[in-house]
Amino acid sequence: MTFPQTLASDARLIQARLDAALADKADQPVIHAMRYAVQGGKRLRGFLVLESARMLGVASETAIAAAAAVESLHAYSLIHDDLPAMDNDDLRRGLPTLHIKWDEATAILAGDALQTLAFELLADPALGSAETRIALIASLAKASGAEGMVLGQALDIAAETAATPLTLPQITALQAGKTGALIRWSAEAGAIIAHADPAPLRAYATALGLAFQIADDILDVTGDATKAGKRLQKDAEAGKATFVSLLGLDAARARAAELVAQAESHLQPYGAAATNLIAAARFAISRET
Ligand code: IPE
Ligand code: IPE
Ligand code: MG
Ligand code: MG
Ligand code: MG
Repeated sequence: MTFPQTLASDARLIQARLDAALADKADQPVIHAMRYAVQGGKRLRGFLVLESARMLGVASETAIAAAAAVESLHAYSLIHDDLPAMDNDDLRRGLPTLHIKWDEATAILAGDALQTLAFELLADPALGSAETRIALIASLAKASGAEGMVLGQALDIAAETAATPLTLPQITALQAGKTGALIRWSAEAGAIIAHADPAPLRAYATALGLAFQIADDILDVTGDATKAGKRLQKDAEAGKATFVSLLGLDAARARAAELVAQAESHLQPYGAAATNLIAAARFAISRET
């Protein structure tokens, strides 16, 4: 299978696992909102879990709960990112954002519940021993929280009103948290499930995560909103600190390409088994959505 076929087939597996996790829950607005929020998206984080696991000899059925977990956590981060108090967006994945479709309270609560659902999924015995599952739970908690995604989001919001523009190291640290942490966790999760050394995958995903967010910042300036399924041309107006705001488009593009080459170089030890992960790194900066 080619990379696009694998990404599409993994997206279907992930959707099925999320649907199953939400199937027998109560007939409540917050549950309907959760189901709505886990539809769509590229599923790149879930793909990274499944593909890193497969590269290390672990079947998709074994790793699927971890792929669904990171997509549930990511969906929560998007719901909260779109709230009026944060980026104040009305469109996500081509549909009205949760607080527009329902209301802010439902959006906050659906996000909260998708966050806890992620950890419920990581307790799934299919993922391995209790030790393996605790390692997944502890590492996702760290990647998502005050030293990871939440920290990055806090720095992103703080930068909007900072007296002076952020420096390159400060923007790099911000993005390593807000986007990098979950992407790093996704690639590392495969190694945790496979009981393999996570270091090469961590190095790969560190470079990939940064390239991915630079591409998001470039798309905000140059992208097609219909394809992206979200409002664009918002970062500059909101005073966001991005690679584009600091370096301009050309240097940001060059930096993203350098990072993809770096990401690929870290996969050399795996030879041909890393073909799909290399394609994923290229996709991170060539995508239109
Ligand atoms: C959007 O993430 C938010 C960022 C961290 C840039 P994605 O671009 O992965 O969004 P979906 O999941 O495909 O909708
Ligand atoms: C969102 O980053 C990152 C997280 C949700 C953690 P952005 O604010 O740049 O994402 P978009 O552009 O709204 O998708
Ligand atoms: Mg944001
Ligand atoms: Mg946003
Ligand atoms: Mg963005």
